[in-house]
Amino acid sequence: MTSAATPAGQPGEVAAPYGTGAGNPPARPGKRVRIHHLRELKERGEAWPMLTAYDMYTAQLFDEAGIPVLLVGDSASNNVYGYESSLPVTVEEMVPLVRAVTRSVQRALVVADLPFGSYQLSPEQALATAVRMMKEGRAHAVKLEGGRAFAPHVKAITQAGVPVMGHIGFTPQSEHNLGGYRVQGRGDAGAELLEDALALEEAGAFSVVMEMVPAEAAKRVTHELRIPTIGIGAGPDCDAQVLVWQDMLGLRRGKAPRFVKRYADLAGVMTGAVEQFAAEVRGRQFPAPEHVFH
Ligand code: KIV
Repeated sequence: MTSAATPAGQPGEVAAPYGTGAGNPPARPGKRVRIHHLRELKERGEAWPMLTAYDMYTAQLFDEAGIPVLLVGDSASNNVYGYESSLPVTVEEMVPLVRAVTRSVQRALVVADLPFGSYQLSPEQALATAVRMMKEGRAHAVKLEGGRAFAPHVKAITQAGVPVMGHIGFTPQSEHNLGGYRVQGRGDAGAELLEDALALEEAGAFSVVMEMVPAEAAKRVTHELRIPTIGIGAGPDCDAQVLVWQDMLGLRRGKAPRFVKRYADLAGVMTGAVEQFAAEVRGRQFPAPEHVFH
């Protein structure tokens, strides 16, 4: 009899259709990544990578590749749901993605982004949304955007026992207020960036993302903070670097931001494969004898 839990390759058995679910990923050694491990990496001066993930297969792959922190970013708004920006995505849309990722990793620390409108109203609202991400999404930590003004929100969440990652510099949820995608923290604004970072650290944040800030400003913040900084367009001196996976693996086509490095061309690979499949179906070359049951 075939079951989702039965490995294929034995007489009479076939591979489980449609995948085996996240309940039974390949066993791997290694302990769960905790926030104190990230602090220790900073103390040792060891840089670490972070990627976004929004589903089971990418979460498994990135976890097995040794990415210690996965972010279920509100960039799911553009990259999963097809909205025009990160603003429309809701908590209801984020929670299933967070749960898929946390169910699929064995080692990575999974951070759930709090979407626009789900925490800005008050520290109480921020805590209530963080609790949903932890209870319903099974997240290990949450992330929110904003500097000094959001220190009370960070404090409310951390005091409830939930680790918080901050996000300063260019904050996509404030795109319209910031006048579009622009570098933040240039010149005198570098001092404000530092104040924001220090306020988040003081409020209990375990790390801070810095997006699109000059490398020198990011270096100074990284030097001043005891908690790790995670750069995206913030130069080489941050303690960690994060990219959106569809950008770095080339699934997203078109012009990428300057800070993105494309490590693969998934869009090209997938388009080629899909076109071949379509041609083989039309030409009756697929399915071939080896794909047919008798
Ligand atoms: O939502 C997201 O993907 C992010 C990263 C760009 C840091 O916030």
